[in-house]
Amino acid sequence: MNNTKFYKLFWQEKEKNYPLPRKSRNIIKVEFNEFEKILNDDDEIKVKKIIDNLYSGDFYLIKNAFSTSFLNRIKKGCFEHFSNSPSTFYKMLEGTPDFQRKIDIETGKKYSFKRCSHSFYFYRWNNDPLNLFGEIDKKWRLVKKLMGLDFNAYEKNTPKDGVIDRVQLVKYPSSIGFLEPHSDPYKYQKLFISGYMSKKDQDFTGLGFYLIDQNDKIVEIENDIDIGDVGLGYATVQHGVAPVNINKNPDWDDINDGRWFLSMYSNQSDEVKERHTGHSLENTVDIINQTDYQIRPIIKHA
Ligand SMILES: [Fe+2]
Repeated sequence: MNNTKFYKLFWQEKEKNYPLPRKSRNIIKVEFNEFEKILNDDDEIKVKKIIDNLYSGDFYLIKNAFSTSFLNRIKKGCFEHFSNSPSTFYKMLEGTPDFQRKIDIETGKKYSFKRCSHSFYFYRWNNDPLNLFGEIDKKWRLVKKLMGLDFNAYEKNTPKDGVIDRVQLVKYPSSIGFLEPHSDPYKYQKLFISGYMSKKDQDFTGLGFYLIDQNDKIVEIENDIDIGDVGLGYATVQHGVAPVNINKNPDWDDINDGRWFLSMYSNQSDEVKERHTGHSLENTVDIINQTDYQIRPIIKHA
């Protein structure tokens, strides 16, 4: 029955024999239905090809994974759910509630990667007020399997168990929303999993999500992205989020301002001493930006 061991073994072989991928290589598009079939069939040849490509720095764009109606529902839902709640912060400790935080540029300097975003955090033990985990798990479980984990790994965990699932909905406000170029932690979740909720040139203008290639050049991605697509890349492949609508004033209270994004990550909790984290690329990579866009907000001084 257990014919799925090859996932884990193949990753181990890669990680033992080759250095972690740091730079983006190719962009590969696959329809979600096809991706799902490969994993449900445990198609060893195709799975190994995907792992091989991901560990070589390829970015998979899984097309049409989520429906637009689901994403719009949770976007509206989180805005309404927290409409009377303050912006606040909780570490990932036992009993942590769901919460929202308006991370302005100053607050965002305290994070391991500098950022500015309106973030909404959801954990499994809080009774899923937006009813989002069911739909999200249809995708997340496949990616967990691809990563060599049990399809339902970490689902029952709470912070005292060490690693926990966290869903984050993010609104990057116009002109100031960003996430500096970085490399993500990879030990408990090898792949970053990005759900795309906004469409370039319809919902926003600008660079948005980008990768960094072997020449340290920015790789533009958003032209290929549609709402409902999911992006997968090895966590250490360098990436970031650039400000959008750079000539527009941010409006934290307007649900339609800026660019929305859905993140699924299994994090080491704050109950663990000396957590494994990612790192910023500040002063380590000289990024060549040949786009018309800034990758950091332009700070206007009064
Ligand atoms: Fe990241």
